[in-house]
Amino acid sequence: MRPIKLFQSSGFRIAFTFTLVFLLAASIAGATAFSIIGEELVKRHERVLASDYETLRSTFLAGGLTDLSEAVAAHAAASRNHESVYLLLDPGSAKIAGNIDAAPSVSTPQMVPAKELGLNADFGYFIQRGVVGGNALVVGSSAEDISELQEIFVEGSLWAFVVLIAISLSGAVFLSHRMNRRIEVIQNTLESVADGKFDAQIPATGGGDDIDRLSEIINSTVSRLGTSVESVRQISNDISHDLKTPLNRLRIIMEEAFEKQAAGEPVAGEIEEAIGEISRIIGTFDALLRIAQIESGARKARFADVDLATILENIAEFYSTLVEDEGMKLEVQIERPLIVHGDRELLSQLFANLIENALRHCPGGSVITCSLASKDSLAVASVCDNGPGIPENERDNVLRRLYRLETSRTTPGSGLGLSMVNAIADLHHATLSLEDNKPGLCVTSRFPLVGLKDL
Ligand SMILES: Nc1ncnc2c1ncn2[C@@H]1O[C@H](COP(=O)(O)OP(=O)(O)O)[C@@H](O)[C@H]1O
Ligand SMILES: [Mg+2]
Repeated sequence: MRPIKLFQSSGFRIAFTFTLVFLLAASIAGATAFSIIGEELVKRHERVLASDYETLRSTFLAGGLTDLSEAVAAHAAASRNHESVYLLLDPGSAKIAGNIDAAPSVSTPQMVPAKELGLNADFGYFIQRGVVGGNALVVGSSAEDISELQEIFVEGSLWAFVVLIAISLSGAVFLSHRMNRRIEVIQNTLESVADGKFDAQIPATGGGDDIDRLSEIINSTVSRLGTSVESVRQISNDISHDLKTPLNRLRIIMEEAFEKQAAGEPVAGEIEEAIGEISRIIGTFDALLRIAQIESGARKARFADVDLATILENIAEFYSTLVEDEGMKLEVQIERPLIVHGDRELLSQLFANLIENALRHCPGGSVITCSLASKDSLAVASVCDNGPGIPENERDNVLRRLYRLETSRTTPGSGLGLSMVNAIADLHHATLSLEDNKPGLCVTSRFPLVGLKDL
């Protein structure tokens, strides 16, 4: 065990601080108890002295100096080991009777050292002195009990301190070891995470204590981090993979143009084709950047209460001629107004992408239905068609960037429409579901409603 490491452990520091606080509290409590008991003992001594003195004084009042000196001598003889001391001095300060030879002149009862009474002891005496018929009468009682109490208290406290410190220090060492072990587990787990192992988890060992709670938070953060790192990895893979195709196409076009030019043939067609390919690549990048911007949440600053019904109605109206031109039919069933908190432009984009998908991926004669209704304080917006639909096992995949069904390889598009729809729905705390319209596809988004009111 390295001492510095031990003292650096928070478990040890807490236990050590607690020990100090406890010792301080114990000392205050002990000192208070000692002073209360001490005061009580002093009062008792004073009471005994006063009654002794009074008894002797009344003896003098009743029987004169002879009786008093006899009584003093008797009391002195009865006191073994100088537990009580008595002294009677005549007006010339010569000793008449008593078991001590000298006494200081004290006006009020007080403690004096044994030395001043001519006694050899290391404790003091409570002394009361008065004048009785011109003679000095001194009574005193030994304060040995108080010094004994003091000794017992000091010795007891010392032992208590030693035992307390020993127990607390062992507790502190135990606690710090236990805490260090748990912190080491957390440290090792986080080191694994730093090495890219996002499935590393801290085991719970403390029966739900604060470190367990912290571990739970770290575990869920790490697993969320793992999911985002995995999705970023997936996205960059997809992007690099999918952008290779148009770039390869571009290279083939340019090679053809190069060959044609070498043969003296016109290359305007190839250049036009190349420009078209480049525009599509730029379009893909623009859409990717837009999705990233939506996902970053920066657009939230533009959120306002908007009527989803008006937005869907305007978009449906905008596409109505296009739908007719494609030989399809557009049906609109809208309950209004339905107010949600969001970005008008992004919500328009969401519906536009869905209608465009139906237009793009369904054959002529298909029917596109846009519907909006409120249900359980949600605005439920659907864009459905009766086209080929999306197989159930592909419905999660089509939400990925650049993912397109094999059957759509020949249809124009970049595979970013539904990713954008997903990002917009997410930003609005809306849930998105792709369902089978039997036949066809139904894309439904459910938005939290702000309230039903007239705009
Ligand atoms: N309404 C639809 N009907 C059938 N398939 C669809 C529909 N909408 C989307 N899809 C499929 O999902 C894929 C992803 O859609 P999307 O992300 O909008 O990309 P894009 O439309 O550019 O191909 C499409 O390529 C298509 O295969
Ligand atoms: Mg699309």
